[in-house]
Amino acid sequence: MARRAQNAPTDADALKVYVRTLTKNDIDAIISLEEGAFENPEERAGKDKIFYRLTVCPEVALGIFTTTNPTEGQARKEVLLGHIIGTKINADWVTDRSMKGDNYGHVDTGKTIAVHQMAIHKDYHRKGLGKILLKEFMQRMKQSGIAKRLVLIARDNNVKFYEKVGFDERGESNTKIAGGGWKNMYGYM
Ligand SMILES: CC(C)(COP(=O)(O)OP(=O)(O)OC[C@H]1O[C@@H](n2cnc3c(N)ncnc32)[C@H](O)[C@@H]1OP(=O)(O)O)[C@@H](O)C(=O)NCCC(=O)NCCS
Repeated sequence: MARRAQNAPTDADALKVYVRTLTKNDIDAIISLEEGAFENPEERAGKDKIFYRLTVCPEVALGIFTTTNPTEGQARKEVLLGHIIGTKINADWVTDRSMKGDNYGHVDTGKTIAVHQMAIHKDYHRKGLGKILLKEFMQRMKQSGIAKRLVLIARDNNVKFYEKVGFDERGESNTKIAGGGWKNMYGYM
């Protein structure tokens, strides 16, 4: 396969993407992006959970955006291209309780960041956006020092993606969410 020449523009360069912290104003865009990205509705977070996560630990949530070209008399509009959202937990690995417990499981004193949602808009897969977003997330989590560990669960078909960005696969997860069958992933940050 042809290799990209050094410094040649990438898809992400062409899109002029940027990363910023998510806020509750982004919830509708997150929901709509997940509807397209996850075929199985059980793998989508839903409004209440997203609201909860962005309320209790907004520091563990990032979005990757671009802007529309401004038309006559109109301001540029932000477009959400992907997001990553987690909580802090006091377990070593993602648990069912941390995903869908009675109170959705955030533990403010927890030393593990559990990523619960990661998705790129379905029209923008394989353009390097997931990598940009996750690397930026890992760097910010490391710099902030808010936790000692970073974990998530992944389907087999996404394990390679996470490995490329700096995660190790660490065996079967005990979680039964959305039918189970998840792999534990450990992120080096
Ligand atoms: C998984 C997902 C976030 C990856 O994002 P993406 O923007 O398409 O990935 P990138 O283009 O940044 O890929 C980075 C690298 O991983 C590789 N990669 C991406 N997805 C892959 C996959 N499913 N299998 C193997 N390799 C993959 C890319 O080829 C690229 O490799 P390179 O660095 O050698 O060029 C995206 O496909 C997605 O949103 N899927 C639907 C929702 C989902 O499953 N989320 C994960 C929940 S655990």
